[in-house]
Amino acid sequence: LDSADLTGKKIVISAGATQEKIDPVRFITNHSTGKMGFALARAAMLRGGQVTLVAGHNSCEPITGIKTIDVSSADEMRSSIINESESADIIIMAAAVADFKPSAVSENKIKKKNLNDMSIALSKNPDILKELGEKFDDKKTIVGFAMETEDLIKNASEKCVNKNVDFIVANNLKTTGAGFGTDTNVASLIDRYGNISELPLMDKFELSNIILDKALSINKSK
Ligand code: C5P
Repeated sequence: LDSADLTGKKIVISAGATQEKIDPVRFITNHSTGKMGFALARAAMLRGGQVTLVAGHNSCEPITGIKTIDVSSADEMRSSIINESESADIIIMAAAVADFKPSAVSENKIKKKNLNDMSIALSKNPDILKELGEKFDDKKTIVGFAMETEDLIKNASEKCVNKNVDFIVANNLKTTGAGFGTDTNVASLIDRYGNISELPLMDKFELSNIILDKALSINKSK
């Protein structure tokens, strides 16, 4: 491993969970802690890369020396990512972006009144990774994640093709040592040509370096 092999390259990484407001008190989110994205950011920095971390909600220590942009909703994450990506060489979407957001954010706290049930109308969030694939695929290396609980390889392969990205890091939430909040992961790298590399259980930092190795092996002229 050439320890400075990302020198001169800009890497944009997203991490953590988005929060989608319902009212001033509540929101919709998920269990992401940001560990995978922060590990990627640290690994890329240590290899000499110029890293921008776009961080949703997370429980990680800030990384000194890395430009970090804190965001909350998927819409906020989208504008920061698109902005930063214009000048990037490699873009890695490790964030757990909420698929849906409340169609309207209530200005005041929603009261329970005498209701026994209630529902909240949801609208689709923008698919940031898909937009990156449409905009930048010819010039930049784009990496996505897939967290599934069934048909992992099939779903991840379809995701890679549908979102027009170089490869997908797929992990099964139900595998021991993989998923939210752990320091380890069990992942497969699935690229657009159908190559599948099933990796063993490892530290998220070690996995980050393997992801960066593969990203670097994909050459795109800027
Ligand atoms: O379609 P799915 O949510 O499973 O895809 C996961 C990948 O897409 C992750 O890389 C995630 O960061 C990204 N994504 C996104 N915008 C969304 C949903 C997911 O960029 N609205």
